[in-house]
Amino acid sequence: MNYLVTGASRGIGFATAVALASRPEDRIFALSRNTAGLTALVNTVQSQYGTANVEVLSVDLAEVDVAEIVDWMSPFGRLHGVVNNAGLLLKASFLESTEETWQQTFNVNFFAVVRLLQGLHPIMENTHILNIGSMGGFQGSSKFPGLAAYSASKAALANLTECLAEEWKADNIRCNCLAPGAVQTEMLATAFPGFEAPVSSEKMGEMVAWFLREGHHFFNGKVLPVSISTP
Ligand SMILES: NC(=O)c1ccc[n+]([C@@H]2O[C@H](COP(=O)([O-])OP(=O)(O)OC[C@H]3O[C@@H](n4cnc5c(N)ncnc54)[C@H](OP(=O)(O)O)[C@@H]3O)[C@@H](O)[C@H]2O)c1
Repeated sequence: MNYLVTGASRGIGFATAVALASRPEDRIFALSRNTAGLTALVNTVQSQYGTANVEVLSVDLAEVDVAEIVDWMSPFGRLHGVVNNAGLLLKASFLESTEETWQQTFNVNFFAVVRLLQGLHPIMENTHILNIGSMGGFQGSSKFPGLAAYSASKAALANLTECLAEEWKADNIRCNCLAPGAVQTEMLATAFPGFEAPVSSEKMGEMVAWFLREGHHFFNGKVLPVSISTP
């Protein structure tokens, strides 16, 4: 299987890519801007499993040329899974947030996913698209000051999940969204300084990898909370 993971240089994306790479027959395509993080990913997989089944590409998803990504992946065959994990959280109260805050947030958390999925559709085959949302974007969940742009962008991603599941059903493409609660990462430290999450990025990465491989056999168009704490 060929799997694409965005935001793989650290945090949940890094851990997801490592977990997926545990099967040497699978190939993982890992994206993010930070080349040091991507190199660390390749080295971790090499030392942990003794395999070289991770391909990396440094890309800014805020201004992505999807054709470049398709050209990079195409020689390896069809795409069977995508984890839209890359995310941006800019903390600002609603009144302090600027047009730029909203544009940047939606560009990475929502429009990059739109552009990526439109561009990748031709190489998809029995594909599971897994969007990483957030409890902040889950209808009826607790909300927190300073996270309006972030939460709204994740709510948009959750809704897109439901729409795509329907629209691409006939193409044998399934689309789900996991909405994590607090996971111990750099992003969490920005959102909730000092808060200790009950879940590590490694643990969440294992869960995301498992769900990417298996979840589409049970769910399509679902937005599932994955949280045992508030936040
Ligand atoms: N941690 C939590 O508690 C939590 C809770 C709910 C949901 N989530 C969601 O889970 C996902 C991963 O979060 P995390 O906590 O692991 O975050 P993180 O530690 O901040 O990592 C974010 C990842 O996204 C990548 N990224 C950000 N902007 C990018 C851009 N313009 N182009 C390409 N890559 C970009 C970063 O790579 P580069 O900087 O190298 O580009 C990094 O690999 C996010 O979607 C987040 O919203 C996290």
